[in-house]
Amino acid sequence: QVSDHVRIYEVGPRDGLQNEKRVIPAAQKIELVNRLSDAGFEKIEATSFVSPKWVPQLADASDVMAGITRREGTDYAVLTPNLKGFERALEAGADEVAVFASASEGFSQKNINCSIAESLTRFEPLMEAAARARIPVRGYVSCVVACPYDGEVAPGAVRDVASALKDMGCYEISLGDTIGAGTPETIARMLERVLTSVPAQALAGHYHDTGDKALGNVEASLDLGLRVFDSAVGGLGGCPYAPGAKGNLSTTALVERLDQLGYHTGIDRAALLKAETLVAAIAADTL
Ligand code: HMG
Ligand code: MG
Repeated sequence: QVSDHVRIYEVGPRDGLQNEKRVIPAAQKIELVNRLSDAGFEKIEATSFVSPKWVPQLADASDVMAGITRREGTDYAVLTPNLKGFERALEAGADEVAVFASASEGFSQKNINCSIAESLTRFEPLMEAAARARIPVRGYVSCVVACPYDGEVAPGAVRDVASALKDMGCYEISLGDTIGAGTPETIARMLERVLTSVPAQALAGHYHDTGDKALGNVEASLDLGLRVFDSAVGGLGGCPYAPGAKGNLSTTALVERLDQLGYHTGIDRAALLKAETLVAAIAADTL
């Protein structure tokens, strides 16, 4: 019996706001997270504890975490590239953290300044510290279809990194089509390979919508048993180290499509709309 519940992992405050050119005041980020909490998400990726030299947009991560109103039933997750990031996240009271690796060497170098193998080694002390603190760790694999630097990425490379992250203790692996190059066919081919090592219950789809294929990619993934998808309110997003990465899949579009397909998400659409209205005002700088 496959579940008809789909968990939406809302990444807008992190994957969206990391990419805004202007500095957005922490108060606006806090209000956004609060409105998303009202919509009933089980998971909200609120910010990231990366180097402020690399992503100045999220240098206020601690202020954001300190300012939000936490809703019972929502886990507030953050990105952590290294032990230093994890320590900052722990201090800020993150419920969950995420490490992020790449299936392609070019993106690994540009995004986190090390090779894939070095990144996995770097995550080890973080995984140990998280296990001690009983903080669940999610793992991302970027460039699961194509890389902005290296071109096409082989499904086997995705499987190798995904299974390494799983073996290391990540409870879930989110597969990132970072530049939205995937189609239902290439996503399915990639997933079939990953599924030889990691079960569908431990996988999530993170599909950027550059090529307007993200909803189709979600459907292809549902057919293969995935029940967790990442999306961003208002279709915010991209990655500063992935030229051409447009927005993430819009959460509203995802909720509507899942609803049409008969899946349950538990998201309050009226509350989500209020978060989306705020995103539009933040993006247009009219607040
Ligand atoms: P580095 O320069 O090689 O690292 O960066 P370093 O250890 O030499 O540190 C450089 C400086 O940063 C030092 O400061 C550190 O203390 C500081 P200095 O001594 O020069 O004053 N530093 C930190 N400060 C605060 N918090 C930290 C931290 N770490 C170091 N955690 C590093 C390596 C990994 C840190 C850097 O490359 C980095 O932060 N990269 C993050 C880039 C990023 O956030 N990209 C976007 C997220 S990934 C994404 O969007 C894809 C995803 O959505 C999935 C998909 O779509 O595919 C997840
Ligand atoms: Mg992303």
